[in-house]
Amino acid sequence: MNLRTTSPIEDALVTPPAGLDPKFFTRQEYAAYTEENHEVWGILFEQRMAELEDTGSEAFLSGAEVIGLDASRVPDLEDVNRRLGERTGWAAIPVTGFIEARQFFGCLAERRFPTTIIVRSREQLEYLQEPDIFHDVFGHVPLHANPTFADFLQTFGAVAYEAESEAEIRAMARLFWFTVEFGLVNERGRTRIYGSGLISSVGDAANALGPNCDRRPFSLDAVIRQDFEIDRLQDVLFVVDDFSQLFDACREAQERLRAGTLTE
Ligand SMILES: [Fe+2]
Repeated sequence: MNLRTTSPIEDALVTPPAGLDPKFFTRQEYAAYTEENHEVWGILFEQRMAELEDTGSEAFLSGAEVIGLDASRVPDLEDVNRRLGERTGWAAIPVTGFIEARQFFGCLAERRFPTTIIVRSREQLEYLQEPDIFHDVFGHVPLHANPTFADFLQTFGAVAYEAESEAEIRAMARLFWFTVEFGLVNERGRTRIYGSGLISSVGDAANALGPNCDRRPFSLDAVIRQDFEIDRLQDVLFVVDDFSQLFDACREAQERLRAGTLTE
């Protein structure tokens, strides 16, 4: 008989968050990963990390170490969550694929990050339209070990969950896109990358730091007025000087949402 009670981290692995439809929740069957899966992870890891040691933000680089990512194997979420939980209380929870926006925001508000667990095939090394574990766990989860970013993302989830009108939802989607997915940060005298779409993609990262991208100072107003397209390289991105700007932007978004002024 097992008398051990489950810890919050184990709960995160076996219980869907309150707001998440259980049909989207799954388990990571770690033993089912094939040799090809581990090899693909290793190839992508080595390829991106070699560049990110130079271009990646400190929050990403130290976060990847904290959560124990390495090139030798696909990450085991149980291990990732144990390390992450001790640091910031965040957990990556396995989901079957895209989930509805409001459910996604609800998970963030509970410090749980919905994560796909499939590994792309060898033929799709360069680009995959759907997120996979490389985009989600390599690209997103290291940032969740940074206390300021961790607080920002939870607050973002709570505020986005309150958004109701189409214009409010669009404003929050833009805030997410230009920070969590495609954000840039000034660090140690240079613009570096922290957004997961840049962390996990060679082409998007090169574009973001190259001559064809207009890198503008981040502000809530600038971001919510900026449209984006998902399937092409970005012409305009936004740069923060400090992650506290993200947290402050969320607070401002919340006040404006409640006052009915969070629109373009
Ligand atoms: Fe993403």
